[in-house]
Amino acid sequence: MGESIIASRKPYLTAVQAGRTYYWCACGKSAKQPFCDGSHKDTGFEPIKFVPEEDGELLFCGCKRTGAVPICDGSHNALPGLYGEDVDETQAALVERQPGGATTLLDGGCYVLSPADIERSPYGTLSLAPLVTAADGAKFLSAFCLTVAPGEAPPLGFGDSDAVLFLRTGECACSVSGRNFPLSGASGLYVRPGESLTITNTGDAPAEWLAVVCPGVAELAVGGVGGGVFDEDFPGRAGTLDADQRTAMGDRFYQVLIGEETGSREVTLFIGEIPQSRAGYHHHLYEEVIGILSGEGYMWTGSKKTPVTPGDVIFLPAKQMHALECTSPEGMQLMGAFYPAGSPAINY
Ligand code: FES
Repeated sequence: MGESIIASRKPYLTAVQAGRTYYWCACGKSAKQPFCDGSHKDTGFEPIKFVPEEDGELLFCGCKRTGAVPICDGSHNALPGLYGEDVDETQAALVERQPGGATTLLDGGCYVLSPADIERSPYGTLSLAPLVTAADGAKFLSAFCLTVAPGEAPPLGFGDSDAVLFLRTGECACSVSGRNFPLSGASGLYVRPGESLTITNTGDAPAEWLAVVCPGVAELAVGGVGGGVFDEDFPGRAGTLDADQRTAMGDRFYQVLIGEETGSREVTLFIGEIPQSRAGYHHHLYEEVIGILSGEGYMWTGSKKTPVTPGDVIFLPAKQMHALECTSPEGMQLMGAFYPAGSPAINY
């Protein structure tokens, strides 16, 4: 048996019905991708039977290299060549950034803003502001920027939602319903539904956080929300940048800080690294909040593009075509948080 043929360098987004039987083409020769048309005869390959449990849309592997047959697991990113489809520069108009923390709107409800320029509500040593809510078009998650001055901040609550928090800069002692997690910059923390979070800034400078909450909420509960019971079933709640834990995705890398293995039912939090390059256009099924940590570049969404710099936050609706370009020779580092939880490598 030889190697299967690459039918497509990307997965096939396909509507499926619960309980119906599908036969996924394993040889790559079918003219009815992603499903079998009998062309595997004499190839040694057999189609894979698949019965979905729910109605919905699935990404069936087209490259025939997935390790999660028949569903795409992102293995197509390792194929040689461009990551995504080539960008047509002439189609994208340059949109100037809006000043004062206002949103710079791109295609499909995607936008970029600078949290540093946004007015925040003060709560003692804590100040915060919403960045992404349902009012901005988010369907599943919301995001907030938090600044914690040295000292203990009032407790935060997230109701029945999952919360993943990314500490961008600073050093903090965090208490999740009484369980302590010391964190320093470029780290993630996960708070389960019903738990509370108290952040104590143990450094000399303000600590900058980004909180992503799913299902989304219009505002965070501050003060008077302490307590809650720490969920012992998921004791590992913190993740820190570690070059040894990175996964390659073409010429890019990512490291999951918080995900399903950490117990997060809804959101995956990861750090990504992009070399000086422009990705091809691609889509994700998930809704995402991206924070630029270092490096400069452009966010492209088809008919528009706008510059991005460190500190910027991008809201990316599900299925929006996009490409993030890094123009800095030293590369770009970013954090991303998305719903539903899964692999950052899966795109189409
Ligand atoms: S298309 Fe094959 S792994 Fe994604």
